[in-house]
Amino acid sequence: MQSTGFSLLLLVAAAGCSAAADRRVLYDRRVTPQPWSVVARASKHQRLHVLLAVQQQNLDALDKKFWAVSDPKSSEWQQFMSKDEIGELVKSKAEDMDAVVSWLKAGLSEDAVMTQSHDSVDVRLSVKDAERLFETEILIYTHSNGHTILRTQGKHSVPQEIGLAIEFVEGLADFPQKRSDKTMPKKRSADDTVTLVAPQTLVEMYSIPKQPAATKVSQGAAEFQGDTSYNQVDLSAFFNQTGLAQQKVSDIVGPYDGTVPDTEASLDVQYIMGVGQNQVDWYWTSDLWMYAFSNNFFNTKEVPDAVSISWGWAENQQCSAQIAGSECTTIGADSQQYVARTNTEFQKIGLRGVSLFVASGDSGANGRTDPTCTDGVLHSSFPGSSPYVTTVGATMLQNPKFELANPPPACSSQGARAKCASGGTEVAVSSAEAGFTSGGGFSTYTKMPSYQKAAVSEYLSSMASKLPPATYFNSSNRAYPDLSAMGSNYLVYMQVSGGFSPVGGTSAATPAVAGIAAYLNDYSYQKSGKPLGFLNPLLYQMYAELPGAFTDVTSGDNKCTESGCFASCQGYYAAKGWDPVTGLGTPVASQMLAYLEKHFASRASLSEVIV
Ligand SMILES: *[C@@H]1O[C@H](CO)[C@@H](O)[C@H](O)[C@H]1NC(C)=O
Ligand SMILES: *[C@@H]1O[C@H](CO)[C@@H](O)[C@H](O)[C@H]1NC(C)=O
Repeated sequence: MQSTGFSLLLLVAAAGCSAAADRRVLYDRRVTPQPWSVVARASKHQRLHVLLAVQQQNLDALDKKFWAVSDPKSSEWQQFMSKDEIGELVKSKAEDMDAVVSWLKAGLSEDAVMTQSHDSVDVRLSVKDAERLFETEILIYTHSNGHTILRTQGKHSVPQEIGLAIEFVEGLADFPQKRSDKTMPKKRSADDTVTLVAPQTLVEMYSIPKQPAATKVSQGAAEFQGDTSYNQVDLSAFFNQTGLAQQKVSDIVGPYDGTVPDTEASLDVQYIMGVGQNQVDWYWTSDLWMYAFSNNFFNTKEVPDAVSISWGWAENQQCSAQIAGSECTTIGADSQQYVARTNTEFQKIGLRGVSLFVASGDSGANGRTDPTCTDGVLHSSFPGSSPYVTTVGATMLQNPKFELANPPPACSSQGARAKCASGGTEVAVSSAEAGFTSGGGFSTYTKMPSYQKAAVSEYLSSMASKLPPATYFNSSNRAYPDLSAMGSNYLVYMQVSGGFSPVGGTSAATPAVAGIAAYLNDYSYQKSGKPLGFLNPLLYQMYAELPGAFTDVTSGDNKCTESGCFASCQGYYAAKGWDPVTGLGTPVASQMLAYLEKHFASRASLSEVIV
């Protein structure tokens, strides 16, 4: 459990520094957010990683192109652009970039490494350089979990001349406080029946093709903040004991250390590969947060077709910690600017043809920054609340059936009363049974995209009498999740935990859905030689024209949090059609493929008519 609030430690000496009038102060850090504490002043030669977001241009043109290539009704559908074409489109003004780069060059020692993109500058530098450039002091901080980082104390600033060219700097004053969306199951009494999920459960429930896809599409899981990776021996034991063919991750980006595997990474890798079998698999870790990830991902030459992200944090507290509003200038921007810039990076990624899948969060409509619901407002979770990603909620089974034809050995790993399910009626996860509540609701900042207007307005009118008070949410904004999948008791193998154990969360549902996307992308590659890219316009159109491509989930709600249920908590109810708990429902892969077949056929005949 993570504590809330800040320690009251005030570093008076550092806070006393004042910046000259020719400087733009990006942030003045005076308190250390819990559960971090100060160890010492950093030594001059220690290394720091910072990323400067430089102002972009032509965002209207980017927006237009993004929707055109993602809209299945557009003549430009799938006409993705290359990374360099997109970079040229949005690139910073030359005078802005030149000013930033010459300032950095003048202040950096020879051992610094500066990587410039069209609209950002990534710098690996010494503490000595950082302290001089940003006129600040860098300290060593340690987290209660032992993780240490270097961050500023007191003010940090840049010269006025470049102050307006920079949107913000990530990696100087921001403290990682975000968490993955995974939950360990509640303790059960010995005679409770436990409904387990193995890859075969998902294949059966979502009518996923039993043959691996024919072409090699690529897919990957993204992790954050020093997450300690999956372990290859665990992965091979997982395949062995779930009766699947052995597979290996082929591309690893970022720090990887398999010696201390982490549950989130193990879950993500085992289920994206266990569902989307026999593809080209990636594993990607990022040291900072979503802007850094999306910027670095976009700027990488070869990237996977689909990415699963099981991480999130309150949209209005992106810059760090947990006191609403008070920490939002830690990087020289507020949360709204941070979200807007990161959303632009997601659009750039979508315009390359990549699908992003994001967990909707594990703390209900209320969100994890207000676990007992005292704020009088619902907190959307970012990046789940981005209109440019496909967001996934979590379900569980009522009246489970246990009729797998050949349950693999993993299914008998949890005692006689625990069995792998094969089907039943899906309902939204409940906090009482699953130990968490599926996130969902409306974005705090970003307006509703047109692809979901019909589906969401139907919900708002049919459920008008059962909505939270109007002051708790903004119904004209992006609504999420988009769809959902089973999210409780996935069998995950980790030798350090003694073998298989059941793990849950929207974290589990997300890699499963990303794995299903491999079959859709595979079909698309066969038809057009291209992946599907950003999926939502296609998914909502599919729902409107072939509702049977989803199993509607109509029962349950997201009024509790991951800490339990409190009288003051508000939330939404699942309902017929789209809802802010389970989205459009859970996938019926065979019907989705049938829809794609029809869609490609109708486009082919359309182009014949035009020719
Ligand atoms: C696979 O499982 C069998 C027993 O189920 C075991 O004998 C074998 O060593 C395992 N192989 C690997 C690679 O884990
Ligand atoms: C709702 O969000 C929109 C942005 O999409 C904003 O313009 C509007 O002011 C918000 N309404 C409220 C009541 O905050």
